[in-house]
Formats: sequence, structure tokens, C-alpha cells
Amino acid sequence: MSGILYVLDDQKLAPHYDDLEAFKNDVLQGLRKLNKQIPSKYFYDAQGSALFDQITRHPDYYLTSCELEILDTYKKQLAMKVGAEPFNLIELGPGEGIKTRILVEQFLHDSLSFTYTLIDISKNYLEKLIAQYNRQSPQLELIAINSDYFKGIQWINTTSKRRNMVLFLGSSIGNFDIATTKIFLRHLWDCLHAGDYVLIGFDLRKAIDILMRAYNDSDGITRDFNLNLLQRMNRELGANFRMDKFSHYEAYNVYSGAMESHLVSLESQIIDIDTLASTFTFEPFEGIHVEYSHKYLLTQIAEFAYTTGFEIVQNFTDSQHYFVDSLWRVVKRT
Ligand SMILES: C[S@@+](CC[C@H](N)C(=O)[O-])C[C@H]1O[C@@H](n2cnc3c(N)ncnc32)[C@H](O)[C@@H]1O
Repeated sequence: MSGILYVLDDQKLAPHYDDLEAFKNDVLQGLRKLNKQIPSKYFYDAQGSALFDQITRHPDYYLTSCELEILDTYKKQLAMKVGAEPFNLIELGPGEGIKTRILVEQFLHDSLSFTYTLIDISKNYLEKLIAQYNRQSPQLELIAINSDYFKGIQWINTTSKRRNMVLFLGSSIGNFDIATTKIFLRHLWDCLHAGDYVLIGFDLRKAIDILMRAYNDSDGITRDFNLNLLQRMNRELGANFRMDKFSHYEAYNVYSGAMESHLVSLESQIIDIDTLASTFTFEPFEGIHVEYSHKYLLTQIAEFAYTTGFEIVQNFTDSQHYFVDSLWRVVKRT
């Protein structure tokens, strides 16, 4: 069996769906707001994805090593919990997929019967993963869906009657604001059957200097990753942002528990975006909010599960208790 890449349209699987219109619309709406903002999902063009891969390898960015430790420690336990009958392994936002490979290899080793569906907004990541799995594990049934999470999940619902196990790793859930987190989890619940599993990575609250280091790495890769969003608008939308006229700024909000990423205009300037036929005015030190990375309390994680229709099966943590992979089961009363 070899992997197939689908590109998802709003209504159907379509071979030539182009997300440029969505990007244009979100930039137009976001830069017109009083508090300017652009959704973080637009970080992940080819350049952004390559920079993110470098971030995950940087010693200041503790999240990846913590989650790799958790998955390596508990992979057999996870295989035993979910693998009793054939299932669909569905991953939201796999990135370069090194974490999931630990589980996939364990599942193959244990001869579990499963398919693997990847949903990611970055076509670049999906193409690389398909090529790798086709080469290294040609027996694996693999489907890659190039889509936003919300649309991709809907597609799963219409096609599968098997037990599902959804992976949402890396604390990518932390990029949603809290209201959207609950809407997303309830939407996910709606698309799943009673007894299905989800495994969600949550980065826990910790000393603020550790957080600040992780999002301001000593080699400036996170800075370049954030500024790439401006370069992407230059490349794809015909904007004229100058990198030397913006700086990257990270702040931790103690009340909400979120690291927040901003791009800050260093002077008064007017930006033209050709494809939007629009100009945008920036005052000195005006910012664009580009990402939330929420950090969680265990009570908050329990509340998310309980209020959106899941029960917590087990919380798996790393040895430093920095990170949790929380295994949930869908509860539906009949
Ligand atoms: C923070 S990275 C995490 C990657 C990987 N799961 C990890 O733990 O290292 C987020 C991943 O989700 C994808 N992504 C971000 N926003 C998305 C969205 N709204 N819909 C679908 N994929 C998205 C990105 O392309 C990237 O692969």
C-alpha cells in the first residue's frame, strides 16, 4: 500500500484547491483590525516549515525533547490501550512527523491493524512524509490531507466507521485562543464515535524564564520563523514589508498562561499589498499579533476534557513534568 495526498476543498476532495484566497482574506481582515493580527497557521510555507524544524532541534526549545521522551516511554502502553481492534490513526498537524514515527514503529512492530491519516495545512510536510513512509514502511496504508484541521476532521467523519485514535501533538492546541479550543474540541468530539481515543499534547505552566528562552532562542531562529510571515506576504501577496523595519517580540501573559508572539513596527510606515489593492498604516511600535502558545494547568486540561465530552484515560508526563500527553476517550450517552 502506498500513500496518497489529497488536497481538501470546502465541499469535496479536489485536486487543485488553492488556499491563496483564504490567506488573502485573513490578511485583509487581520490587518484592518484595530489590534492587528494574522493567524499562526500561515507560518508554515516551505521556508516557515524548514525554520520550525530547526526550532524543534534547538536546545532552548524543550517541548520536543519532552514529548519524544513521553512517547518513547509509553509507546508500548499506548499500543496496548488502542490496538485491540483495527483502528484509524489520525494525526492533526504532524509537521515533520518524528514523534509519531515512534508510535507508528511500535504499532507496526506489534502487528497492529491500522491506517494512518495525516492532516496538515503544509503540503510541503505532507509530501515529505508520504515519500518517507512509502520508502521505509511501504506496507502502511497512508492518506495525507492538505487542509485546515476543522475541514480535515469533517472529512474523517464521513469516511470511517472504525475506531479512531486522533493525535494532536506538540501543544499545537495551544495556538488556539481558549474559546476556539473548546469549539475545536467539541467539533472533534462531534466527528468521533463513542470510545474513540484522542492523545493531545499540552505544554504545562513552568518558570517564565524557561518559557522566554524557548520562544527567544539564542540563535534567533524563532525570530526568523516569525519574520518569515512578512516575507511570505511579500512573496505571495505582493506586499512590501521590510524586515529591518519590524522586530519580533514575545511576551508571557501570566493571567492567561500564554506566550504571545508579535511583530512590531519600528517606525511609522505604510505597507502596500498589491494583490489586496490595499495599504496598511503602522504607527511606531504598533504590533501584529501572530501566535498564542498557551501553557496549561492540569485542572484546565481536565476542564477542557469534561466540558467537551471526553474522559481522561491517563496523563503521560516527562521526567521534568514540563509536558503532558493526555489520552482521552470520547463519551457519548445513547
Ligand atoms: C507547531 S507545529 C507541530 C508539529 C508536530 N506535531 C510537532 O509536535 O512537532 C504545527 C503543525 O501543524 C500544522 N498546522 C498549523 N496550523 C494548522 C491548521 N490550522 N490546520 C492544519 N494544520 C496546521 C503546521 O503545518 C505544522 O505541521
